[in-house]
Amino acid sequence: MSDRLYIFDTTLRDGEQVPGCQLNTVEKIEVAKALQELGVDVIEAGFPISSPGDFESVVEISKAVTWPTICALTRAVQKDIDVAAESLKYAKKGRIHTGIGTSDFHIYHKLNSNPDAIIERAVEAVKYAKKYVEDVEFYAEDAGRTGNEYLARVIEAVIKAGATVVNIPDTTGYTLPHDFGAKIKYLVDNVPNIHKAIISTHCHNDLGMATANTISGIINGARQAEVTINGIGERAGNTSLEEVVMTLKTHYQALQIDTGVNTKQIYQTSRLVSTLMNMPVQPNKAVVGRNAFAHSSGIHQDGVLKNRENYEIMDPTDVGINESAILLTARSGRAALKHRLELMGFQLSKEKLDEVYEEFLKLADKKKDVRDDDIALLVGDATRKEHRIKLNYLQVISGKSLKPMASVVLDIAGEKFDATSAGNGPVDAAISAVKKIIHRQVVIEEFLVQAITRGSDDIGKVHMQVDYQDSIYHGFGAHTDIITASVEAFLDAINKLPVGE
Ligand code: KIV
Ligand code: ZN
Repeated sequence: MSDRLYIFDTTLRDGEQVPGCQLNTVEKIEVAKALQELGVDVIEAGFPISSPGDFESVVEISKAVTWPTICALTRAVQKDIDVAAESLKYAKKGRIHTGIGTSDFHIYHKLNSNPDAIIERAVEAVKYAKKYVEDVEFYAEDAGRTGNEYLARVIEAVIKAGATVVNIPDTTGYTLPHDFGAKIKYLVDNVPNIHKAIISTHCHNDLGMATANTISGIINGARQAEVTINGIGERAGNTSLEEVVMTLKTHYQALQIDTGVNTKQIYQTSRLVSTLMNMPVQPNKAVVGRNAFAHSSGIHQDGVLKNRENYEIMDPTDVGINESAILLTARSGRAALKHRLELMGFQLSKEKLDEVYEEFLKLADKKKDVRDDDIALLVGDATRKEHRIKLNYLQVISGKSLKPMASVVLDIAGEKFDATSAGNGPVDAAISAVKKIIHRQVVIEEFLVQAITRGSDDIGKVHMQVDYQDSIYHGFGAHTDIITASVEAFLDAINKLPVGE
């Protein structure tokens, strides 16, 4: 029988505390609804006493969300608890999350108190919150640096006072995974009434171990994990929801722990939070980073194309990403290029593929990221070499007060032909010169010019559609010189006309 882990999302409270990540109420409602869709169990919607905006957000999220529990944070202070209870009045299921620092640092240097007085305040706060709601969560702030024996006394006392969930935060991200796991196990083994509450983890990522610590806590008995989307949060952030959920899914056989999260919504929710909070996701971020399912080395690409599981432990579609990306770089092999060409609709012979691959490697040495447009160009160049009619020479004179003139030399089946023509513009002059050589009655029906990237040194792409004897032929050309690209596109179409008419 599998166990259920509750997912407590604090993106809108601990995540939103980050400078620059603040959301307005409408945006918070959008995130809360996305979290509901995602299937989290608890949404920590804010710290109502901290500002009227936070108060209003908790109220509005409580109205907007139907089934997850809505949680409001407080200090162990009666006024905080009153305000939190008021903010939760529309929640279908409301929870007050109250607590106090329990490490020596917090007891002596923040609260100017002593261990017994802290237990008293903790108990009072829980009892006070219980007057308003049944579901009260207690946090022992800086539990990561709190001695286990004292922590066990605190936890036993607050459960006795009515806490339904006991949160063991590694507030400073200090602990090591085996120590954090041992702390949870200590509580399981040494707090007599621990079975009356759910143990929760709340790990910060200062040493990059938030997820490892959370998983260690879960393995040792925690059944709620406090997380944020994309791991956002104070300093180095909180444990990321997607990492915990996908770790449990990937290791389900060994751990037998389920969450209620619809993993297919993960990527979409990650994008939403990143966009609204102006918080970019690092490209190599586990699960949701741009490169999380992107393969760039030849060996890996070949392996993934043979069988995805050679190099992927998760199926990208499980987190809502359409497919693994095979990035074309200088380290990509023929298999990757062939795969991309096939996706683009090109079926090349082995010889043609070799030729395109050679050119691809030269381009990839110069350009970090080779895109579909670049590949289309390479295929076009290789195809052009086989054309019966090729452009051998082109000179165009044009300018503000000059009549455009073009001289063209074409190679037709190995023989050279030249012509000169004037035109309304440089392209018209060049095409007219070509027409003088080929003697075909073709009419340009469509002429489309596009830049591939953005700079003025960019390659221009030309698509042309020509009419010949009531049939339409398409041509494509690309060159840094837009007139050459236009002539190439025209010739590409001309080469498709029936020969010998
Ligand atoms: O990190 C922390 O200890 C917290 C508590 C307020 C739960 O965010
Ligand atoms: Zn925190």
